[in-house]
Amino acid sequence: MQFRCLPATSATPLGDWSGDTLVLGLLAGDDGQPLLGALEALLGAGLRQRLEQRAFKAKPAEVLAFERVGVEPAAVVVVGLGEAEGFNLDGLRSAVAKAARTAAASGGRHLGLAFPLTSLPAETTPAIAAAAMAEAVRLSLYADQRFRSEAEPKPRPDTVTLIGLDDAADTALSRLGAVCAGVELARELVAAPPNVVTPQALADAALAIAEAYGAELKVLERSDCQALGMGAYLGVAQGSDLPPKFIHLTIRPEGDIQRRVALVGKGLTFDSGGYNLKTGGSQIEMMKYDMGGSAAVLGAARALAELRPAGVEVHVIVAACENMISGGAVHPGDIVTASNGKTIEINNTDAEGRLTLADALIYACKLEPDAVVDLATLTGACVIALGEEIAGLWSTSDALAAALLQSGQMGGESFWRMPLRASYRSGLKSPVADMKNTGPRPGGSITAALFLQDFVTKDLPWAHLDIAGTVWSDKGRGMDPAGATGFGVRTLVQWVQAGATG
Ligand code: BES
Ligand code: MN
Ligand code: ZN
Repeated sequence: MQFRCLPATSATPLGDWSGDTLVLGLLAGDDGQPLLGALEALLGAGLRQRLEQRAFKAKPAEVLAFERVGVEPAAVVVVGLGEAEGFNLDGLRSAVAKAARTAAASGGRHLGLAFPLTSLPAETTPAIAAAAMAEAVRLSLYADQRFRSEAEPKPRPDTVTLIGLDDAADTALSRLGAVCAGVELARELVAAPPNVVTPQALADAALAIAEAYGAELKVLERSDCQALGMGAYLGVAQGSDLPPKFIHLTIRPEGDIQRRVALVGKGLTFDSGGYNLKTGGSQIEMMKYDMGGSAAVLGAARALAELRPAGVEVHVIVAACENMISGGAVHPGDIVTASNGKTIEINNTDAEGRLTLADALIYACKLEPDAVVDLATLTGACVIALGEEIAGLWSTSDALAAALLQSGQMGGESFWRMPLRASYRSGLKSPVADMKNTGPRPGGSITAALFLQDFVTKDLPWAHLDIAGTVWSDKGRGMDPAGATGFGVRTLVQWVQAGATG
């Protein structure tokens, strides 16, 4: 799919676009809007009656398609945007995604997209709008056919023209391919079953990035991790027949280094729960997505290795393993020692993500970065609190939290800041060890974050993103088709490209 921009002309907001499918966004309750006039010029004076007849109210993401025979464009897809006051970047993304799916399904090869971008809030520059529209088209038309014996035909357009945008917006499109390839890599890693995406497969994905873009890769084997004393991580891995792989990928900028950041991802390629086995209703069959954090950081690495933003050195760290049951698996009640010497009583083997992250965070902090951000499908409690659209954000730094929230907004991913309430830390007190790995059920996502905080160097800006709810969408939503969302990639890339501030 090729994307390009085409300025409007004074004669018509559609400029001199020609193609087979016009996709046009309409605001509700504005009879004088220029795009409605342009549509009328194209389809004839009966248009308004037709819209009325088909009860089109221009409600958000309401779609209407007109097929035409023997004339260009052969199809017109009209999508509603709601009232002008409420029209924003998120609304633009969802509307473009919905309309692009309709246009592609009707066989459009050359799409022209015309939306009333001047009605967006002032801070939404043409470049931001262009990137959002192009991402929405590409990411909503993504289809994963790797595991079907015969691919279903899924038509995709060849060219997509953003009408009403000039060359200035083209710069925004130059990063599009890298960002979307990163999101698609994350989706593919998450969607693949646990017999395909193993710890070794995650290491292979990191190697492919290192080889394609000249990044540096270190993979620590079990014995290397033993030498570093990573007892928490290795405890989780010990019940599996598959060896753990501790992945450390480094992306260096071309010139001077201003900032160094570590991105840490939970990489459980399958979470059975261990002896605290996941039972009915706990979605054990979905626990292939428990490596969603590692998919997000590897997807971001894929994009950043290509884009090479100036001044920022990026360390991507994944302690990959499986949480399984066997004669060698940890018992509930076992005590393990993390690589900083802290002892942990494993009172629940299903709280395994935080054990792997403990050693990964200690390792990340030893690199002395300016900031550490971890992403993890860490708790069901976070899903209960925030649902499927919003990820939880915990941070020891207000500036880092603000920068990540802002980057999320730019990338179309939602976060909600949650409290690191120190008094809840008492829930992790163990009668026998320095701490236990699980506290009481209430506030479970908060105690999980507090557990992680124990393994982060004091005063080092750190943020924890719990993406348990957002990593997967059963029905699909906005730009995400049903299945793996690739959540986190766009926020991370945006944050690093903006200088990894906070
Ligand atoms: N991987 C799960 C968290 C999870 C649950 C992600 C549902 C996505 C959907 C994690 O390892 C886990 O099992 N957490 C436990 C913690 C509990 C034992 C304190 C949970 O949330 O139930
Ligand atoms: Mn678990
Ligand atoms: Zn887990």
